[in-house]
Amino acid sequence: MKNIIEALKWRYATKKFDIDKKIDGETFEGLLDALRLSPSSYGLQPWKFIIVKNKEMREKIREAAYGQSQTTDASHLLVFANKKNIDDNLIDEYINFVAKEKNIDISNLDGFSKMMKGSFKGRTMEDLRGWASCQLYLAAGNLLTVCAISGIDACPMEGFDKAKLDELLGLSSLDLESKMIIVLGYRSVDDMDAAGKKIRFAKEDVFIEIN
Ligand SMILES: Cc1cc2nc3c(=O)[nH]c(=O)nc-3n(C[C@H](O)[C@H](O)[C@H](O)COP(=O)(O)O)c2cc1C
Repeated sequence: MKNIIEALKWRYATKKFDIDKKIDGETFEGLLDALRLSPSSYGLQPWKFIIVKNKEMREKIREAAYGQSQTTDASHLLVFANKKNIDDNLIDEYINFVAKEKNIDISNLDGFSKMMKGSFKGRTMEDLRGWASCQLYLAAGNLLTVCAISGIDACPMEGFDKAKLDELLGLSSLDLESKMIIVLGYRSVDDMDAAGKKIRFAKEDVFIEIN
């Protein structure tokens, strides 16, 4: 546990990356596996992660991110996107997939399907998209923690023009909307933020104990 706490203190939202230091292929694949293993409500995984490797596209993303240099300088860039249509079709596709994976008759999942559809019923698309977004942020937290314990630097970013990024990546036609960018790599030795004090509320201000 001590090592994990140390790793979480070591990590920070990296502002300046070492342009020359790249994450090796095997490590990056491991990070993607960790991301894919993230939990989500009902296991529905209403997300896609776009791995942007193209240099010119990374330049364009930098513009959409108000010039934040992490977007071009970090080793890897992932766009976290949600499915836009959170509806019964999404549930049906998932149920089909579960039946196939578990090698069971789909009728065994009728109750599960009805329960999920019931929980979506009567909710606005805006509300459901908010729900989908929560799942995406959980995956983001998972990735950030795995990065920390693996000695990989990262910066989660919401500071970008979402409509512009969606247009650049053609996300609308894929029924997707971007919510966050996470860049990964290694901190530059002269990133002043690395030495900054961790600003976190005190234990007594964040935990409420019910005895
Ligand atoms: C959802 C989210 C969006 C963020 N967006 C940005 C961003 O656009 N640019 C940036 O430099 N940092 C961004 N941050 C980093 C936060 O400012 C940072 O995590 C917070 O101040 C706590 O500091 P620490 O992560 O360094 O411990 C974001 C963090 C989160 C969780």
